[in-house]
Amino acid sequence: PRRPLIAIDGPAGAGKSTVARAVAAQLHLLYLDTGAMYRAITWLALQRGIPLDDAEQLTQLAAQTQLSLKSGNSSVEPTRIWANGEEITQAIRSPEVTRWVSQVSAVPGVRQELVKRQRSMGRDGGAVLEGRDIGTHVFPDAELKVFLTASVEERAQRRQHQLQAQGQQVALEELEAQIQQRDRRDSERTISPLRPAPDAILIDTDHLSQSEVQDKIVMLYQQLL
Ligand code: C5P
Repeated sequence: PRRPLIAIDGPAGAGKSTVARAVAAQLHLLYLDTGAMYRAITWLALQRGIPLDDAEQLTQLAAQTQLSLKSGNSSVEPTRIWANGEEITQAIRSPEVTRWVSQVSAVPGVRQELVKRQRSMGRDGGAVLEGRDIGTHVFPDAELKVFLTASVEERAQRRQHQLQAQGQQVALEELEAQIQQRDRRDSERTISPLRPAPDAILIDTDHLSQSEVQDKIVMLYQQLL
């Protein structure tokens, strides 16, 4: 029988990655960052000058791209990712990719291809999958589904701190606008829009620390066993 799966979904900047990585490390589960896959296809499309409204070319690109992901060994190391053998771990986090990724991820053919690979990677269970549609679409039968939220203000502030740590100054209003735009695109697309599964457990992280969120999820998981 398959070991349990944890689906962690939610909007941009709700703290999914940090928490998902920490939970996976604590429970010795595999961690899969599905957003990195959409970012990789977006990065390649930008590199190759593929028009981002050309669904057919984007679908072909997704189908022909070999992706490999390697999750970090600790809760702080991000996932490393290679496209056709080239490491693009840093490249997929650029503002340019962040700006366009929700347009590429709205293409049905791109989603179909990446979802197929995500299902095969999670097939044996024992994994934490993080994204937007894991609980609703990729693994609707996941044993534990968590939907993380936080207010736009809080998410923008967290993002600002991250950027400051990297020596970048960006105005809060600008970050709020970017986050809102990505939320809107992700929630309004026709295919697998961002929304909590009916049986997902909602956690509002506004007034919780990362380790409090982590503890909650670990506790929920242990109750399953
Ligand atoms: O999680 P992250 O911010 O890296 O995701 C980048 C983008 O990839 C999201 O804004 C969304 O457009 C897309 N995505 C998705 N479905 C997923 C994961 C990410 O559509 N399961």
